[in-house]
Amino acid sequence: MTGGAGYVGSVIAARLAAAGHDVTVYDDLSRGHRAAVPPDATFTEGDVRDTERLREVLAVTGCRAVVHMAALAEVAESVAQPKRYSDVNLGGTKALVDAALATGVERVVFSSTAAAYGAPRRVPIEEDDPTEPTNPSGETKLAAEAALREAAAAGGRLSYIALRYFNACGADHGYGEDHDPETHLIPIALRAARDGAPLQVFGDDYPTPDGTCVRDYVHVVDLADAHIAALHAPPVNVAINLGTGSGDSVLAVLAAVERVTGRPARYEFSGRRPGDPPVLVASNARAADLLGWRPRLSLEQAVADAWAWLETHPFGYE
Ligand code: UFG
Repeated sequence: MTGGAGYVGSVIAARLAAAGHDVTVYDDLSRGHRAAVPPDATFTEGDVRDTERLREVLAVTGCRAVVHMAALAEVAESVAQPKRYSDVNLGGTKALVDAALATGVERVVFSSTAAAYGAPRRVPIEEDDPTEPTNPSGETKLAAEAALREAAAAGGRLSYIALRYFNACGADHGYGEDHDPETHLIPIALRAARDGAPLQVFGDDYPTPDGTCVRDYVHVVDLADAHIAALHAPPVNVAINLGTGSGDSVLAVLAAVERVTGRPARYEFSGRRPGDPPVLVASNARAADLLGWRPRLSLEQAVADAWAWLETHPFGYE
């Protein structure tokens, strides 16, 4: 797994290892955490752009399948540093593809993103809908999907599945979300409830029932199960949405935070955050069809699990 020391990666690595797979986590720890690597996985520190090193690790471990997650994924940062995003997200994927082709890897499961769609023309979003990313983070993920598609079309043994995540959330026992800085709604809202400080709600005038943005929140454990299904799926070489098929507004998330924590989630409205589409909700019909995947866990469960993680890890992995 590249990027296996990150939030989603750590949950996948732990579940793969628990299921008896040999797991090697390859991560440069620029965003991930050494403590997020499960004890029964092997850890190798390395840069995803380093083809030689990747080739060496794949050859030594005899990996037949790679979950490729190493990437940068902050929208605002990507606007400020587009070249860096291209280097890591697209350059890293090209390096991984070269190493995978050279060592006979058969399957790459790639972490892609709903940001590939940009502002959707309709919801729920289907995979063949237009992909018009509005920032370098989404653009470079989409370009990385294309690099995988080309490699798979070359006729060798390599096949890929790109999983377009909607809003990952929740935690899995000892593995949870620890970003610096944290920009995601649920951990920010939980900290606000814990500390009694108000959070900013970005925009109250969207064309949604309560005026706040609607997102499709998918539990990280469900995401992990989808990756495991994708490792075993037939060689379909497509992108697949990972979402629940229904959305919740920012205010609905805050209401869930209040129910779970038993504390008020105080907030104040501030202006819209640039680049936020009003509604992002996935169609997950393709995931059901090709992976046999259906999300099982609710938003309430995700908030409860993220709260349990925050209570046991008040300083994250530190
Ligand atoms: N929000 C607030 N206040 C905050 C933080 C977030 O109101 O302090 C709002 C956002 O405006 C948005 C919603 O809460 O409407 C969710 O925001 P997140 O930052 O948690 O998630 P995003 O939907 O912006 O981003 C997620 C992933 C990105 C990915 C994107 C794809 O985190 O990596 O989905 O659309 F690119």
